[in-house]
Amino acid sequence: MIRQAIIPLAGLGTRLLPLTSVFAKELLPMNGKAGIEYILDECIDAGIKEVVFIISKKKMIKDYFYKDSFYKRIIKKKKDKRIINEYRKILKYKKMIKFVYQNKPLGTGDAVLKTKKFIKDKYFLMLLPDDLIVKNNCSKDMINISMKNKCSVMASMKVKKNNVSRWGIYSLSKRLNRNNFFIKDVIEKPTIKSAPSTNAVIGRYILPKKIFSKLKNLKPGKGGEIHITDAIKKLINEGDKFIGHKFRGKYLDCGSMSGYIKSGIEISKL
Ligand code: G1P
Repeated sequence: MIRQAIIPLAGLGTRLLPLTSVFAKELLPMNGKAGIEYILDECIDAGIKEVVFIISKKKMIKDYFYKDSFYKRIIKKKKDKRIINEYRKILKYKKMIKFVYQNKPLGTGDAVLKTKKFIKDKYFLMLLPDDLIVKNNCSKDMINISMKNKCSVMASMKVKKNNVSRWGIYSLSKRLNRNNFFIKDVIEKPTIKSAPSTNAVIGRYILPKKIFSKLKNLKPGKGGEIHITDAIKKLINEGDKFIGHKFRGKYLDCGSMSGYIKSGIEISKL
């Protein structure tokens, strides 16, 4: 079973300024619900029991789940059913969340490394909260694929050729079946010329615990950040199996202002 998930939440959110000058971007509402709650619901529905949040010094995300006395005071005065239900939901999330700090935004790889002491099993799930996938639980499907094939899995989607430098890009080896293929290599944000395909890494990963040993010795890559893609590349080179999974469901980009606006509209139609 895969029971643990990690969620990097320490990014600066510059693409969502000015909102992120005061707000944690993952708390911004999408159709009346904080973005992070969609991600947590996906985890719960996929059977995840513990989630490690990697947060920066900004206290807002932690506060969102730790307002017990505030809720209790209001509920005591006003027996509003909606507020009682919201509080119950927050308590349910809080029970499963652990926090770890990444005080400098040194990249996704560095964020993953911070969770080392929490990870117990051979494989764990990572979700990048900028990437919402609706209409189908991508994490659940990937957990099944990982358990069946006893290997790591990453979500994949075709992107436009002139957009490859925004993503991690795969080169493929053997096709497993219609929606799954083995990955030969992965390159973080290649140029159009050097991109081996238009298959992009989307923010859902089933990673092996041994990735920590690769991350420990990793030098900064593109843009001076430590990338998870570079650690994955090392594992693949050593013979580890990674499956690229073309997910069902609809991808929503919540990390940019135009994407965030569009995503809210899409979610309101569900
Ligand atoms: C990260 C990863 C990249 C991946 C993308 C998916 O990039 O480094 O490989 O394709 O997430 O959203 P970022 O969005 O942090 O620039």
